[in-house]
Amino acid sequence: MSKKKLVVLTGAGVSAESGLKTFRDSDGLWEGYNIEDVATPRAWRKNPQLVLEFYNYRRKNVLEAQPNAAHYGLAELEKDYDVTIITQNIDDLHERAGSTHVLHLHGEIFKMRSEGDHELVYEIRGDIKLGDKAEDGQQLRPNIVWFEEPVPKIEEAIPIVRGSDIFVVVGTSLVVYPAAGLVNYAPWNIPKYIIDKRIPYTSEITNITAIEKPATEGVKILFDMLNANMK
Ligand SMILES: NC(=O)c1ccc[n+]([C@@H]2O[C@H](COP(=O)([O-])OP(=O)(O)OC[C@H]3O[C@@H](n4cnc5c(N)ncnc54)[C@H](O)[C@@H]3O)[C@@H](O)[C@H]2O)c1
Repeated sequence: MSKKKLVVLTGAGVSAESGLKTFRDSDGLWEGYNIEDVATPRAWRKNPQLVLEFYNYRRKNVLEAQPNAAHYGLAELEKDYDVTIITQNIDDLHERAGSTHVLHLHGEIFKMRSEGDHELVYEIRGDIKLGDKAEDGQQLRPNIVWFEEPVPKIEEAIPIVRGSDIFVVVGTSLVVYPAAGLVNYAPWNIPKYIIDKRIPYTSEITNITAIEKPATEGVKILFDMLNANMK
């Protein structure tokens, strides 16, 4: 029998217990910065040095962080399910925990690209500096989808969510669109679970079980619930 398709949408909350801060939890600031100053095209035009410093620092944080029990638990689900993780996170903790199908909606901290040509993408572990150029001679920038920029991967994500047999949401405030809108594409009659230490507004979502716990504990509870349903 083929495995059921289990799709997980994750946000910053899944990485919080790995020491990577979410920003809704700190009054709309991300590690002390206003989002508008570091994660928008306007910020890049106004002060590219600051934007690069911000993401260089984020890259160091992610290098020092380790996956937590929630990342490992979601990776382990691959034993019994055909799992796809759709993440808003730019860190690589799902991959390091062993998940093999991870779609990064908002880009990846270990990639950079030409500021002109979206196709010129390169791996980066160290810092990006002003004056570092892509092959087309244009400045390199983090390969991150900033606020107000289009989210091309959403087109890939929608049919994955539409085709799911089980849908799980972990650690996202569901306020950043279009990512938050993905929950509306899950078939109405399939089982859905949401894990968050403070469950966001979800009353329009049918057939949903809320697990109001930190991600590490919540994923364990999810395991028990899924196992009970399998029997
Ligand atoms: N690790 C990362 O890559 C990272 C970190 C911060 C922000 N971001 C960016 O933030 C944007 C989006 O918003 P978001 O919805 O992902 O994050 P968010 O900051 O808006 O919301 C975080 C959510 O996680 C919950 N949460 C916090 N700690 C938790 C824990 N230990 N266990 C379970 N839930 C917990 C909060 O209650 C909240 O609902 C994304 O675009 C993303 O790129 C990414």
